[in-house]
Amino acid sequence: MIRSVVRGNGAALPRRIMKNADFEGMVETSDEWIVQRTGIRQRHVAADDETTASLGEAAARAALDSAGMTPADIDLIILATSTPNNTFPATAVEIQNRLGMHHGFAFDMQAVCSGFVYAVATADLYIRGGLAKRVLVIGSETFSRILDWSDRSTCVLFGDGAGALVLEAEEGAGAITDRGVLAASLRSDGVHKDKLFVDGGPSTTGTVGHLRMEGREVFKHAVGMITDVIEATFGQAGITAEDLDWFVPHQANKRIIDASAKKLGIAEEKVVVTVDLHGNTSAASVPLALSVAVADGRIKKGDLVLLEAMGGGFTWGAVLLRW
Ligand code: UT7
Repeated sequence: MIRSVVRGNGAALPRRIMKNADFEGMVETSDEWIVQRTGIRQRHVAADDETTASLGEAAARAALDSAGMTPADIDLIILATSTPNNTFPATAVEIQNRLGMHHGFAFDMQAVCSGFVYAVATADLYIRGGLAKRVLVIGSETFSRILDWSDRSTCVLFGDGAGALVLEAEEGAGAITDRGVLAASLRSDGVHKDKLFVDGGPSTTGTVGHLRMEGREVFKHAVGMITDVIEATFGQAGITAEDLDWFVPHQANKRIIDASAKKLGIAEEKVVVTVDLHGNTSAASVPLALSVAVADGRIKKGDLVLLEAMGGGFTWGAVLLRW
């Protein structure tokens, strides 16, 4: 059976770092509140010349380098983003052009914070369906552009950045010991759409709009949704939490990560946490966390890795893969 195996990964972050203390003169908040409620200590914020396309391109180039490939080797680019450079064309196509790639195809995927998990699951289907052999999966966001910088309940939470993976088709035995994507489970439910949304859009206001969130409501649903979808993924793969080497969750809030890991019985030392460094970077958060844990030597070839995300929509999902 065909498996989608990770050949390389990369990341890119804006030059400017904004610490929690930098908000203290802007809105009524404190480093102490932000750290205690979220675990966030800093986030990167894009300058005018840093966009979803430029960050996505940089992460893609880093992933190609680590895979020992060039854009000529890639058939498909899937970009997970909710902050595209333009309403259309897809920012994935802009990245394709920036990479000097004029073959194959590229498209954006919009599932907010779950975008990267959706995109990996989708890339796996394209590979297993024979429509692509090598796929660049990118998560890139510039949420700083859609934040209401006067709203303390949201502006302190988000950051900008990008991460990418190169997936390649490889023949596997159809066993849990195979490398590559082993199981995935995706969910959405639009009944929750008003709990986390952007109050603008081309077909409604004709404006870009700003992010609005009922944080407490999102928090209330997050742990249950995350753990349900992970248990479904474990069920598909026939594994338990103990079999995992690494848990790489969406980085929105340390308290949500801790509560989910605890409920699932995933040991604390297996959990990759980068929310302190990046804040919530939406679709970029999982590949950015992967890049940190690969760079510091934690995630190694052959490790069993669980990715998970939950966000606006609501959307939520999990992917199990062997690195
Ligand atoms: O990535 C997509 C998924 N998104 C998430 O997972 C976010 C989920 N939600 C959360 O992470 C948390 O709900 C927040 C971090 C957003 C908020 O934490 P909380 O413990 O749920 O706080 P809260 O909303 O219940 O607010 C507690 C208090 C409120 O004051 P009152 O009403 O108790 O007087 C807020 O007004 O904290 C206040 N507050 C702040 N205080 C200082 C809200 N934001 C701030 C702030 N600084 N930045």
